[in-house]
Amino acid sequence: MNKPGQSLLVSNIGQLLTMRLDKGSAGPKKGHQMGEIGLMGPDAAVVIQGQKILKAGLRRDLIKFLRRDSFHEIDAGGKVVTPGFVDSHTHALFASSRIRDFEMRAGGATYEQIAKEGGGIHRSVSALREADADFLTGRLEAWCRRAMEHGITTMEVKSGYGLDLENERKMLLVIRRAHSPVELISTFLGAHAVAKEFKGRQDQYVDLICEEMIPGLESLAVFCDVFCDQGYFSVEQTRRILKTARWHGYKLKLHAEQLHYTGAADLGASLKAVSLDHLDFLTPVRMNRLAKSDVVGTLVPGANFFLATGRYPAARDMIDRGMAVALATDFNPGTSPTVNMGLILSLAVTQMRMTPGEALMAATFNGACALDLGGRLGSLETGKQADLLLFDTGDYREIPYFFGVNMVIGVIKKGMVQRWGN
Ligand code: NIG
Ligand code: FE
Repeated sequence: MNKPGQSLLVSNIGQLLTMRLDKGSAGPKKGHQMGEIGLMGPDAAVVIQGQKILKAGLRRDLIKFLRRDSFHEIDAGGKVVTPGFVDSHTHALFASSRIRDFEMRAGGATYEQIAKEGGGIHRSVSALREADADFLTGRLEAWCRRAMEHGITTMEVKSGYGLDLENERKMLLVIRRAHSPVELISTFLGAHAVAKEFKGRQDQYVDLICEEMIPGLESLAVFCDVFCDQGYFSVEQTRRILKTARWHGYKLKLHAEQLHYTGAADLGASLKAVSLDHLDFLTPVRMNRLAKSDVVGTLVPGANFFLATGRYPAARDMIDRGMAVALATDFNPGTSPTVNMGLILSLAVTQMRMTPGEALMAATFNGACALDLGGRLGSLETGKQADLLLFDTGDYREIPYFFGVNMVIGVIKKGMVQRWGN
């Protein structure tokens, strides 16, 4: 719609959620700050120059910017504008769905039982190893299109269905090469499960990760992640993997306290991980400890919903104790096959008692912080990247309220209009 480099004015915004930072503050929004969504309007506007925001605010305060240049103007129709969703935890690159697991669970089997019977992550590994890079690239690009329709403008994507050097590299190269307006941030997750050929030789698989995969893939991934849980990687193995990764320049993430309490969160905090993800079994004492740090707790209630675990992470308690919480889709074929971030927000409000404002903060600015990108993404203020969403409502609380309904009707990524209006 607009030409590259042409300045853009988004006018007539009914509610503008800037998520702007307090002066001088850095790091994620914690505790009660998560509700500070920087609401402006009616008649708010955003001025965009190139890929960045020149100014966001009430139209009457933007007049001097508007005189200076000629703008391509687009009307928000009195509706809600927010920063683009930053989906900080996905396994979006996979070769096929896991319908068999889905049916087995409907028949009463649990995620762990299915994994023991040859389903689970290993089913996805077999399919991925057989798939070629062009096929995988096409699939990832198609899912990026769907993610963007649901407002995701930045998405972390993990490897972890290759589980050998060649196939982990194949995954990371596909993530790098995929063409999409959605910005992709890659994570190496060789420690997603012990590769089948190493059955009974867990430590040798960890040797392979530390000695070959981490050094060999360091130019292809920003983060290193480990699935630390019973039946996957122990706290000691996780420590070794993460320390090696840190030495090679990776930033750290961790699947922590998902299926059982293991102590993974303590380990992640001591190694200064950027985010700790899932946290279903995080204890109040640990919440207090994490509240003292800038580690982001990334919650993925889509996995709880889809696995019907009957419980959700204690988001309310985490926030009340002062933690920083992010929300992500965890888009993956086994536990959370969805790119509908709006639905994740609905689960956060209805099942985890977050407020609509906190949920939106968690999916935008705190999601950016969970990728260590809070300085560039996640809020609408001068100098930030111009990633904006338009919703088909005049009240932001309706975004999580209409559950399962995609309310996104406009997307701007890096100052370029991808879609606007119904
Ligand atoms: O985030 N916990 C491990 N990884 C994924 C599941 C991946 C899969 O089942 O394929 C998760 O839930
Ligand atoms: Fe995951």
